[in-house]
Order: sequence, then C-alpha cells, then structure tokens
Amino acid sequence: MTGALLFAMILILLALISAAAVVAIAARRQDADGPATAGEFDRRAQKADQERKKVAATVGTAPASDAVPAEDVVYVPAPHEFEEDEPRVEISYDDYGVTRRKFFNRAIGAVFGLFILQFALAGLAFFWPKLKGGFGTAIKAGSVSSLKAQVIDGATVTPLFVPAAQAWLVPFEVSRLPGSSFEATPNVVAGGESDGIGLMALWQKCVHLGCRVPDCVSSQGFECPCHGSKYNISGEYSSGPAPRNLDRFAVAVDDAGDFVIDTGTVVQTSRATTFTAVYPQGPFCVG
Ligand code: FES
Repeated sequence: MTGALLFAMILILLALISAAAVVAIAARRQDADGPATAGEFDRRAQKADQERKKVAATVGTAPASDAVPAEDVVYVPAPHEFEEDEPRVEISYDDYGVTRRKFFNRAIGAVFGLFILQFALAGLAFFWPKLKGGFGTAIKAGSVSSLKAQVIDGATVTPLFVPAAQAWLVPFEVSRLPGSSFEATPNVVAGGESDGIGLMALWQKCVHLGCRVPDCVSSQGFECPCHGSKYNISGEYSSGPAPRNLDRFAVAVDDAGDFVIDTGTVVQTSRATTFTAVYPQGPFCVG
C-alpha cells in the first residue's frame, strides 16, 4: 500500500467520522425542537433570558411600547409575582423562538460544517492530479522515435523536458547498464531495443534540497543553481552536497510505441562510482 493511498484512506475515514458527527448533532438538535421536558425549560428560564436581552424594562408591567408591536414583546412577571411553589409551565422551543443557546449551537454547527467542507475540498485538490492522470501516474510522453529525434541530433545531446512528468529525457546506451548505478534497476531505461539507445526520465528535483535542476548545454550535464550540485547527462552525481544521483522514474514503451513515464515509481540510486558519460564536456553553467 503506497503512502498516498494510506493518506487517502485516512482522509476518507476522517471525512466519514466528521459527517457522522454532524448528522448526530443535527439529529440531537431535531429532538430538542420538541416540547421541553419538565424542569428543562420554564417561564423562570424565559424570564432570565429575556432580562439579559434588556426586556427587563417591561418587568411588572404589561408591554405598551409604540416602537415594538405588542405581540412581539414578551410579558415578564416581576420576581415578586412568582410564588415559590408555583407549578412550572412547559413551553416549546418554537414558542420561545431562537434562544441565545440555540443561536450559538447553530453558529458552531455552521463553523464546523464549513471546516469539513474546506477539509474535503483540500483533500480533493490534493488528489485531483491523480484523479485526472497528472503527476503521480503513468504519463505518455510521445512516440519513442520522435522523442529520440528531439534528444539526439548526431553527436549533440539536448535533454528534452516533459512538463507533465517534471522530467528530463536523456539518452542512455543499454549496453552500459551492467556495472552502472542502474544495473539493479533496469526499468529506468526503455526504448533501446532496436538501436541500443534507450531513454531515461530524470526527475528535475535536486536530491539535495529539492530545487529544480536545469540542464547545462556547455558542460553536457545538470547543475543545481541552489547549492551547486552537479550531475552528468545520465544524472549521475558528480560534485556538490547532493547525497546521490538524480532520482528517475520507471519507464516503458507501450504497444503503440509510446514512451510511458511512471511518475508514481521513483527510483533512487546511490552516488555513481563508475560513470556512463563523460563530464564535463565544456564550461559549467553554475560556478
Ligand atoms: S538543492 Fe540542489 S544543491 Fe542544494
């Protein structure tokens, strides 16, 4: 199970738990909309709330304000009008209207709902590239023959950047695999069945701290502008703080002759001890 799949499952689980919590809260609130039980809500509580809402001005008197319609003002008896053993009269929440507690409950529910929505959207955004077949999936770069024609021009090699795969395509002689850093991972080169020259897909991300590594035409390699790590045309470590060769992706050629870069399978190799390309072949781009 890949880390991304595990993360997706945790995300879905959290979303389900959150949704269940929201449903449970909503159901509870629905139950609470029925008549209040004895002792839970009575006219004394009503009076206390209304006093806090500054309706206390009407205490002991019948409402008669011109500004407020008589039917909208609650008549609250003065404290002396309560008898100690006066029976409590149950009223429903509907009769009482929106209480402060109800308001805050709804506000908390709304904030919680917004949080869940945001979380779900963030999760969707995170996984969207995978859903639509972007980086992290197998990407077709084009036909092997046309790619080779772009990368190899006689004795000149020009790495071809494939944006969707965040990878540089470089040539690699299949016969150099034995004894190289890639001997144990031959799936990093493909397309060399006919002429012995295959292609590799080097991840553009520097293995030191992740900067994008551009190619350098003059030195015929890759040089990181951040801290100066240098790699030859095969992405083999040459110098600088990078701990290993450039990472690369598993590649293959499908039945239609297309070069497929599996950006979900990253292959790491340790610093090369034997090199498959001469480097540098000219001035460096990064000092
Ligand atoms: S990020 Fe490339 S050398 Fe530091």
